[in-house]
Amino acid sequence: MRLQGKTVIVTGAGSGFGEGIAKTFAREGANVVVNDLNGPAAERVASEIALASSPEASHGRAISVAGDVTKRDDWQRLFDAAIEDFGSVQVVVNNAGTTHRNKPVLDVTEAEFDRVYAVNVKSIYWSVEQFVPYFRQQGGGAFINVASTAGVRPRPGLVWYNGSKAAVIIASKALAVELGPDRIRVNCINPVMGETGLLTEFMGMEDTPANRQKFLATIPLGRLSTPQDIANAALYLASDDAEFITGVALEVDGGRCV
Ligand SMILES: NC(=O)c1ccc[n+]([C@@H]2O[C@H](COP(=O)([O-])OP(=O)(O)OC[C@H]3O[C@@H](n4cnc5c(N)ncnc54)[C@H](O)[C@@H]3O)[C@@H](O)[C@H]2O)c1
Repeated sequence: MRLQGKTVIVTGAGSGFGEGIAKTFAREGANVVVNDLNGPAAERVASEIALASSPEASHGRAISVAGDVTKRDDWQRLFDAAIEDFGSVQVVVNNAGTTHRNKPVLDVTEAEFDRVYAVNVKSIYWSVEQFVPYFRQQGGGAFINVASTAGVRPRPGLVWYNGSKAAVIIASKALAVELGPDRIRVNCINPVMGETGLLTEFMGMEDTPANRQKFLATIPLGRLSTPQDIANAALYLASDDAEFITGVALEVDGGRCV
């Protein structure tokens, strides 16, 4: 039970990596606030966590809070719901993210650009605004930001997605050095391509065995990432085992970035 006594907010936890993180954290004893823009998806994950727990086990509890991470008021609601139900918050996982479809840079519209930067980057601005004063008062806390190998080893066709994830990585490092004296840790996870709702958008082509092979060929360990791979890394970074770890961007990528 590596997260016993902690409350964690996981954004975009209605599917994919976020769902894996929320369920793994609850199994390790954390109370979890399951956020997603897709309210029914968040509710499904929170109720599956509730079904998996039993009164005797030290499995954590979960609530769902629908909300858009690009909106200040929705961050306020997330914060209020967490405090009301669980009394305190120790970790915020900024996992919600989106991309424009893989395509030539000149085909990306202004609306797509704005959406990618709002969901991937501005969300972190709002999470910081909402939680840093609280973490300071509490004497510490941790942010885990899901960036991407795209922010380190960009693939063609994803220019502004790559740029947004590089922004997440450098902002996280800057936050780590600025907030370290407040005992607030800020780390990133850089997943390689994974089998989630975003996969075909990243590929920009149908997910056939032949097309998938083109991407697998760039990953030395020879497979895509899974929600459990990402959750295992997040579990370490959220736990007290990582109390001296801040400002890292941990690649969970089967060697892709080497
Ligand atoms: N799948 C990959 O190949 C891959 C690789 C590297 C990084 N990532 C990153 O992992 C994170 C999770 O993505 P995923 O792959 O699990 O995809 P996913 O589509 O399965 O999950 C993303 C979730 O975020 C939610 N979401 C989108 N916009 C939101 C908003 N404004 N407010 C709240 N929730 C919102 C979606 O409804 C969805 O449930 C993203 O930050 C993504 O960029 C994914």
